[in-house]
Amino acid sequence: MKIGVDYYPEHWDKALWEKDADLMQKTGVEVVRMGEFAWCRFEPAEGEYDFTWLDEIMDIFAERKIDVVLCTPTNCPPLWLYEKYPDAVMTGRDGHKIATGIRGHRCYNNPDFIRHSKQIIEKMTRRYANHKSVIAWQIDNELEANFCHCEICIGEFRQWLKEKYGSIEAVNKAYGNNMWSGEYSAWEQIKPAYGSHPYAWFNPSFMLDFNRYASDNMIKYVKMQAEIIRKNCPGTMITTNTWFCENMPDFYKTFQDLDFVSYDNYPITKIPENSEEYYSHAFHLDLMRGIKRQNFWIMEQLSGGMGCWMPMVHTPRPRMIKGYSLQALAHGADTVVHFRWRTAVSGAEMFWHGLIDHSNVPGRRFDEFAQLCKQAKELDFIDGTEIKSQVAILYSSDNEYAFKIQPQTRGMYYLEQMKLFHAAFSRYGINVDIIGQHEAFDGYKIIVAPQMYVTDEDVVKRLYEFTKTGGSVILTNRSGVKDENNKCIMSPLPTVFKNLAGVCVEEYDPIGEDTVALRFADGSEYKGRQWCDVLCAENAKVLATYDSQFYKGKAAITENVYGEGLAYYVGTVGEKKLYNKLVKEILLKSKVDFIDGLPENVEVTIREGNGKKVRFIFNDTDNMQTFSLKGKELCLAPFEMQIELLDK
Ligand code: GAL
Repeated sequence: MKIGVDYYPEHWDKALWEKDADLMQKTGVEVVRMGEFAWCRFEPAEGEYDFTWLDEIMDIFAERKIDVVLCTPTNCPPLWLYEKYPDAVMTGRDGHKIATGIRGHRCYNNPDFIRHSKQIIEKMTRRYANHKSVIAWQIDNELEANFCHCEICIGEFRQWLKEKYGSIEAVNKAYGNNMWSGEYSAWEQIKPAYGSHPYAWFNPSFMLDFNRYASDNMIKYVKMQAEIIRKNCPGTMITTNTWFCENMPDFYKTFQDLDFVSYDNYPITKIPENSEEYYSHAFHLDLMRGIKRQNFWIMEQLSGGMGCWMPMVHTPRPRMIKGYSLQALAHGADTVVHFRWRTAVSGAEMFWHGLIDHSNVPGRRFDEFAQLCKQAKELDFIDGTEIKSQVAILYSSDNEYAFKIQPQTRGMYYLEQMKLFHAAFSRYGINVDIIGQHEAFDGYKIIVAPQMYVTDEDVVKRLYEFTKTGGSVILTNRSGVKDENNKCIMSPLPTVFKNLAGVCVEEYDPIGEDTVALRFADGSEYKGRQWCDVLCAENAKVLATYDSQFYKGKAAITENVYGEGLAYYVGTVGEKKLYNKLVKEILLKSKVDFIDGLPENVEVTIREGNGKKVRFIFNDTDNMQTFSLKGKELCLAPFEMQIELLDK
């Protein structure tokens, strides 16, 4: 495991550079990431480049044997560029250019911006192609599938539609544009969702395509950068740092041609008192690992209290700095780079704290970071090991977009049921993969397919096949609702999944923040919330029924034998303990080994490979936890991680 820091030499007086690098070396830092916001220092005036300062700091790190991840600086074009080419700034929904002075505000299709991006990337990659310290390139920073509303982008969107549909008639048909007199008679009539109306007022089919286009458009920009980097620096790894943002790109396509996934990991620093409100960050880590189904990096890791665009929150509690980094390792991260070495003293981000405070006096958090660096060097035996899992949860960008376009009921959001199932499987010490729905299902015994809302025929077919040949599949409410164009399917729900689940939804009740009573056959009682599919169990066995509302006594959760496998249907959203009960039954029936009796939010994962098996036990709570695991008594302090090499 390697530990690194995000460093911004351009923010600091040169007199600090060597001192910082000395302290990094002494502490055990092995990697620094630099450059993503420094374009105005690399090209202070159009066509005038200055990399001498970067050369200098690169040499300082090279002398100390600290590796470097260099970033293309395209997130923040310099102001001279915007002044000369005002169209390079993104256009907002109001049709106006958005303000400069912030970051990430460029139009991915503007020819002047593209030309200048290419030039700076060419210059930078050629200059550092043979620098022995550069181990990877990061493209830009936290790229988003931004919607730019300029004429060029609209033209690109129309072109994207032409390639997809061929004719305007086909677009009208796909979108059902006979609603609200929305039929297009010319491509020019296709316009983005200008103005301030909620997106839910626009045709959901159109909106889904607009999201897909925005993602493809961002990815085109990533590919452009990757091509230049590969041409000039063959053999050096390329990534981009991703996160969960407002306009999420399709993760799977984004990283298709890149070498590894890197993620910006900021777990919360205050654990909510109500455990129903808490989801471990392990969920995000498993999703990130699932993008390429390989180990990944953390490119920005929590180092201090967070703030700036939100009021400041709790500073990391003792052991969080170390514990959360090791938690990332436990879920497949091999390198963890901390954001940032020292807290900025200027700029909008001055209260998003780094490892060292404004005072420049290393304190409690830094000491813990130093312990982490020391421990990381003793963990070589983990190199080459990976997570292997028998359980997968399916994720789809289409569903992510479609639920955002049309929120289904108060409080419901796409990731929540995934998180609930993830939490329940984790409760039993199970490794869980979260994978794109287009990935192969081979090797899994259980597949959780929550809210398969926008239908992809191929995925449906493969889920039938998976179950038929002995797998267990878990389906939930809001499945089979839409066709691939985000139009409703005219057939009883869950439409394409009806035969697999052996149920039919008689009617549904979006109860939002209200609750409903549920009762299992063994008499145990739970609460349902958000949504109730009132089920008619045609072939399936009823596991739980509603115990209140006018549908009292009707089926809520079912199990169906399909071929050699089992298909579960969960018609509502429950409390965590409901998922714990259900998942345990499914694990038993699916013959997947598990650990019973772990305290809540104590996470056990296993990495294996190279003839080794390593167990990670993490106390992701703010209480001391005493428990026994496979006959061994354990006592873990809050956020403490225990790592043990097991006999194979
Ligand atoms: C990330 C971003 C960093 C920094 C950090 C904390 O989202 O990539 O540049 O802004 O958040 O604010």
